[in-house]
Amino acid sequence: MGRKTVNVALIGVGFMGSEHSKAYSLAPVIFPDIAAVPVKKLICDINETAVRKNAEQWGYEEWCTDWKEVIARDDIDIVDICVPPNLHSEIAIEAMKAGKFVMSEKPLTTTVEDCEKLVAATKEYHGRSAVAFNKRRWPAVNFARKLIKDGVIGTPLTYNGRYLQGGGDEFAKYYTFRSNILTGGGFADSCSHIVDMCRFILDDQYDEVVGTTEVFWNEAFEASKDGGEPVRHERDAEDMSMIIARMKSGVTATLYQSSAYAGAGEDISFEVCGTKGMVRWSGANPSVFQLALNTKDPETDGTKSILMGPAHPYGQAVPPLAGFGVGVVDCMSFQAYEAVNACVNGTKYTPDFCDALEVIKVCDAVRESKKKRAWVKI
Ligand SMILES: NC(=O)c1ccc[n+]([C@@H]2O[C@H](COP(=O)([O-])OP(=O)(O)OC[C@H]3O[C@@H](n4cnc5c(N)ncnc54)[C@H](O)[C@@H]3O)[C@@H](O)[C@H]2O)c1
Repeated sequence: MGRKTVNVALIGVGFMGSEHSKAYSLAPVIFPDIAAVPVKKLICDINETAVRKNAEQWGYEEWCTDWKEVIARDDIDIVDICVPPNLHSEIAIEAMKAGKFVMSEKPLTTTVEDCEKLVAATKEYHGRSAVAFNKRRWPAVNFARKLIKDGVIGTPLTYNGRYLQGGGDEFAKYYTFRSNILTGGGFADSCSHIVDMCRFILDDQYDEVVGTTEVFWNEAFEASKDGGEPVRHERDAEDMSMIIARMKSGVTATLYQSSAYAGAGEDISFEVCGTKGMVRWSGANPSVFQLALNTKDPETDGTKSILMGPAHPYGQAVPPLAGFGVGVVDCMSFQAYEAVNACVNGTKYTPDFCDALEVIKVCDAVRESKKKRAWVKI
């Protein structure tokens, strides 16, 4: 007997469209217990050349250029939104109205008001939602959350999260999303990941924040459509943000995001210090998880490295020996697995649109804090 199936339509065939498509292919291969096999039914993008090409390469049955066609189809179960953030809420609301399970990329919206409308629509239409904070799927992130919940490092006192991206000059100048209107800001775009990760690892909520942001590159160039000189645009998407947050539990968190790490690639990391020990991890070296315990014994005191593998979260979907390694594509497929299960089993997906609203509120509060040079309550 064949496996049960669920039909997916994806909107936006850029960077994330590609990653989500790979994930739908991989998830049923690595998770034999997935609730249904995702069928790549329909793909949509306003760029007809790109959507035609990617439909074929990524294995979608059909393509279209108008997202409203996706919503109108009654054979689509999951609508996966991978377009720029200023378009997420309109598509998501229509999709929920039509009874679809909605997976949307982050940042969910560009403003708090827009996100509140989206959350209200979720309640009105009994919408089922998921937000692609895929960094939550790193096994190490889930392992840290578990160790903290189990009290292994005692009571958490401080959290330090960093997200460094090394495109520098070229990345910023040619980066598709150049304005706060399209993205909610470079800050909301990248920093939203570490704002979410801190909440998730600590299982906590933000109470108040103080912070600042900086735009290092105030112009961006768009390739000209007729092969001429690139078109220059003003750019106001922030490249750097620094936040100090007080969490409801009393933990003090410092969050630092910057795209000014020219030549350094990408690295998302965290460190949590508690009364009895410390956990630390960096996405640039994802198999190595560090744990320090204050044992008062010179033979066991100090920081030790634990190799992530089959014994850790999502271990059923990784190669059989610790240290083989997990990458972003794996994390995306863990995300697809969770989304398909939530859609088919009718269970709640976490993080959903309500979680995303909490993140957007923090982004907004940091801008207010910068303006007022003061702490801002969430
Ligand atoms: N989760 C992550 O780690 C991560 C990483 C990068 C980007 N993102 C997020 O993913 C989203 C997409 O980013 P990207 O990097 O893939 O962008 P991209 O520019 O590579 O792709 C966006 C695509 O959307 C299409 N598009 C624009 N308007 C459309 C419309 N009205 N209808 C249909 N298609 C339309 C564009 O033609 C383009 O192909 C953003 O929200 C971004 O913040 C998330």
